[in-house]
Amino acid sequence: MNKPFSQACENNKRPILDILSKVFSRSEHVLEIGSGTGQHAIFFGQHLPHLIWQTSDLAINHKGINAWLNESTAANVQRPIAIDLNDAWPESTHTNNQPFDALYTANTLHIISWPLVIKFFRGIADNLAYQASVCIYGPFNYQGQFTSESNANFDLWLKDRDQRSGIRDIEDILTLASSAGLSLIDDHDMPANNRLLVFSKA
Ligand SMILES: C[S@@+](CC[C@H](N)C(=O)[O-])C[C@H]1O[C@@H](n2cnc3c(N)ncnc32)[C@H](O)[C@@H]1O
Repeated sequence: MNKPFSQACENNKRPILDILSKVFSRSEHVLEIGSGTGQHAIFFGQHLPHLIWQTSDLAINHKGINAWLNESTAANVQRPIAIDLNDAWPESTHTNNQPFDALYTANTLHIISWPLVIKFFRGIADNLAYQASVCIYGPFNYQGQFTSESNANFDLWLKDRDQRSGIRDIEDILTLASSAGLSLIDDHDMPANNRLLVFSKA
């Protein structure tokens, strides 16, 4: 099959890697939620060989992620597991009964509905190890305001496609994160009006 391709992933992968290489320097086992095309997993896995990078997504995206994996030499990137945030995360998310000590997700929280954002943080609370590092990439609003006109237009486009989608308010995300035992370590300004939020789990 032709591999799925995201130009945005190509554009943002290096600035994201610069931060992940520091945040995940002592991590061992990363769970990615919503791996999408699989491009990020392949690239980060290649550049962070000390990590086991577990891809996941809805089953419908596994074929595309596997197509990237079939052409990759990154042995540390694992075949996708099915995680639908509507459901409990499967037991198989734990290797040797050790919970993941890191989590990465990009461009998912504005796609999924707000009840699923709540479940996402519940999943982190229930499944990740003590002191796990959590990185969340994407656009957010601050003090109820879009940070750019392009983000405001993107939000309209998202809602036109699915009323349940939309750029989230950072304050709401931080409240949920806190209730999941996450402390905000950094909030990085990223290209194209995105942010990379870094948390540590208590
Ligand atoms: C905009 S894409 C982002 C993909 C990739 N992370 C990226 O940055 O290009 C949103 C992702 O969220 C996933 N997704 C949507 N609904 C989901 C759900 N209920 N549970 C888990 N993932 C979901 C989609 O399948 C898709 O991979």
